[in-house]
Amino acid sequence: MTAVRSETTPRPTPGGAGFPTGFLWGASTAAYQVEGAATEDGRTPSIWDTFSHTPGKVRNGDTGDIAADHYHRFREDVALMKELGLGAYRFSVSWPRIQPTGRGPAVERGLDFYRRLTDELLAAGITPVATLYHWDLPQELEDAGGWPLRDTAERFADYTALVAGALGDRVPVWTTLNEPWCSAFLGYGSGVHAPGRHEPAATLRAAHHLNLAHGRGVEVLRSLLPESAQTSITLNLHQVRALTSSPEDAEAARRIDAVGNRVFTGPILDGAYPQDLLEDTARIVDWDELVHEGDLKTISGPIDLLGVNYYTPTIVSAAEDGAGDARDDGHGASSHSPWTGAEDVAFHLAPGERTAMNWAVDPEGLYTLLRQVGEAHPELPLMVTENGAAFDDYVSPEGRVEDPERIAYVHSHLDAVRRAIADGTDVRGYFLWSLLDNFEWSYGYAKRFGAIYVDYATQKRIPKSSARWYAEVIRRGGLPA
Ligand code: FCB
Repeated sequence: MTAVRSETTPRPTPGGAGFPTGFLWGASTAAYQVEGAATEDGRTPSIWDTFSHTPGKVRNGDTGDIAADHYHRFREDVALMKELGLGAYRFSVSWPRIQPTGRGPAVERGLDFYRRLTDELLAAGITPVATLYHWDLPQELEDAGGWPLRDTAERFADYTALVAGALGDRVPVWTTLNEPWCSAFLGYGSGVHAPGRHEPAATLRAAHHLNLAHGRGVEVLRSLLPESAQTSITLNLHQVRALTSSPEDAEAARRIDAVGNRVFTGPILDGAYPQDLLEDTARIVDWDELVHEGDLKTISGPIDLLGVNYYTPTIVSAAEDGAGDARDDGHGASSHSPWTGAEDVAFHLAPGERTAMNWAVDPEGLYTLLRQVGEAHPELPLMVTENGAAFDDYVSPEGRVEDPERIAYVHSHLDAVRRAIADGTDVRGYFLWSLLDNFEWSYGYAKRFGAIYVDYATQKRIPKSSARWYAEVIRRGGLPA
């Protein structure tokens, strides 16, 4: 039985164009990817500052020092959101702006930025949707042990209290963590993300402590926020498919589903780690020592929404003797597999069209994912908190950015959402990734996901043709016929 708060808002009624009334039409960003102002107002380095400043870790040596300068330009950016008619803006709060050492009292100047941002959003009629953690752990907490250390979950609970205390009166939707899979498995497994470690046991320890941080975060949010506030977590649920119908490939899919999805959905939504995951990983970590009494109850506390991020499916087959380890599974090439506990698996690209990330365009994957989660947890409302695509956008001599591929991508994926809703899945919103071109983690500024183009030399914003198209979708409350 999924733990959903009984006060959860009733399911919206169907509106026109296949999307319910009250459906949130939004766009997402994350602090380190857009804010810049890396050393301003008391902010100290996060693990992503350290990582991006380490030679060879990020393409072209790019860092988030300036990024899209959203910290200084948020008013202009909110004005652009208003022009697009966005109903909601999903942003993340930078932990090292609030607690530079990861502990202790809040830096008011840090909180003030988010007070100004949310005031500006509310004045523009845009719902603020806040994510507490989108990967920027204060470096001092990593130095103390990072997510593999249990204490980090407690530090997150303290930080959550500070942010909820400051913004609880104005933010109606809260997300504890964004994609803890990436934090644990890319950060401590393959090392393609900060802090760049590759330690199998630390990876699974990080996963459990991220789950615990989520649970403690929800407890704190519930104790401080008004009754009407909604709490959630955002997962990048992998839509795992076996390459063939062979039993070996089905087994590969089961193992990837275990360490890719069920390591989070198990404890969070069902109150237990799946037995097959525990068995697959027993040689790596001692789960009895890792999971303390009461942890699963904390982790599975009721939430109001589940955020789902989707870009492309994950197609797998059995591989011999670790052949899967060295392959690029779409998360960045590494000689270390992020798939701790599921080593002998090979990854394959779906045929057909690709984005600039070399990710296959596969809207059916989103439909299937929403249907599967909806069927497994029918009482839990879902929200697509990220979906979108990078393409090689450029400014034409006339100063325009035409991105028909992105329009086609978003159109087909919104249609998948519409079909999932029509078939009975409770989806409450769709957030385009991203509002702006930004720092795409280990790819730096080489990959552009924005609906709004950013000329990094001048910080000039140019809405792409997809932004105008999305504005029209929002205006009509659905896709053009
Ligand atoms: C997701 C991240 C987001 C962005 C997109 C492309 O995994 O949550 O920050 O980088 O991928």
